[in-house]
Formats: sequence, structure tokens, C-alpha cells
Amino acid sequence: MQIHLDAEKCQGHNRCYALAPELFDVDDYGQAVLTEEGEVPDELKDKARLAAANCPEYAITLTGD
Ligand code: F3S
Repeated sequence: MQIHLDAEKCQGHNRCYALAPELFDVDDYGQAVLTEEGEVPDELKDKARLAAANCPEYAITLTGD
């Protein structure tokens, strides 16, 4: 599973960070950044799905499984 964050869409709701702090961080402007680009470790896939489903701006996309 690959994770991608669209910085253009992110409005800083930070639900992603609240739900999956292993995958997301918050920058100085309150916007989300990925802690690691690319491949999501197996143990974090459920959290990645949860974060993607809860972003109101649809800024988080997942590909693969
Ligand atoms: Fe941004 Fe969505 Fe997270 S708007 S801060 S990617 S919940």
C-alpha cells in the first residue's frame, strides 16, 4: 500500500494526525506532512485507511493493498 498526501487539498483539519500519528506530522503552518513517503508498513495499513476515510478534504489517497 502506497500513501500520498495532496498538500494542495489539505486544509489542516489534522484528523489524520489524531488518528494515525505514526503516519502523519503537522508542519509549522498546521498542515499535515507524511512521516514517511511511500510504502505503508503492514501494521499501519488499518490506520492509513482510517485517516484517508476521515480527511474531510480527501487529501489522502492510498493505492495498492
Ligand atoms: Fe489535512 Fe486532511 Fe489531515 S485536511 S491535516 S490531510 S485530515
